[in-house]
Amino acid sequence: MNHKTDQLPHSGPCERNKQAIFDILAPLLGNACRLLEIGSGTGQHAVWMAKQAPHITWQPSEIEDNLAALKLRLDVEAPGNVRAAIIIDVAEECWSDHNPDILFTCNTFHIMSEQHVEAFWQHAGTLLKTDALVIVYGPFKYANEFTTPSNARFDIWLKQRDPASGLRDFEWVNELADKNHFICIADHAMPTNNQCIIWRKSSTKTQRKPLTIDG
Ligand SMILES: C[S@@+](CC[C@H](N)C(=O)[O-])C[C@H]1O[C@@H](n2cnc3c(N)ncnc32)[C@H](O)[C@@H]1O
Repeated sequence: MNHKTDQLPHSGPCERNKQAIFDILAPLLGNACRLLEIGSGTGQHAVWMAKQAPHITWQPSEIEDNLAALKLRLDVEAPGNVRAAIIIDVAEECWSDHNPDILFTCNTFHIMSEQHVEAFWQHAGTLLKTDALVIVYGPFKYANEFTTPSNARFDIWLKQRDPASGLRDFEWVNELADKNHFICIADHAMPTNNQCIIWRKSSTKTQRKPLTIDG
């Protein structure tokens, strides 16, 4: 089926945030870099960002139920460096045999359940090699506090839709990253109360400093 561009599934936020996210991503995209995206949605990020970075290979993915909608855009607009979309549900035991340099996901952690965010990090720990990056964009809480009243309202709205969803606490996510051998190397405040957070895979388990009690 041939879809005109204006008939494709469309996300307004994707259009508005793509440049700001790409500005963070671009310096991290080395030559021949392979990027795996989890929860590619409408494919707008994959198509637009892959066009800006023709030297990389972009692997989009979606859960089975949303794969057909993603394919609609990719079939019409994807440049040659975007691979055919694959099914990945982070909850599944086996993702794929891909070995990306960058694992990227945008606006998914507050949609997934806590168990699925945990599964994301377990897979990242198994799949990625030392120095590979995980890049996560979306709204976060810090020390269990919302960064803005609008994020607090968004969280209520999300939970009314799906009680398992909701904004995740940075410290909780970072603990999962740490358990799976990732170190947080940057946390960028982004427009509209979002963050773009970057973790790097370390060669061994992060060595925590032993707790010492003075006095
Ligand atoms: C709000 S949309 C974001 C889509 C796109 N990344 C964007 O920024 O517009 C959340 C996405 O998370 C995906 N998702 C939800 N649960 C998932 C899971 N268990 N594994 C992989 N993707 C999941 C959904 O299919 C959906 O495409």
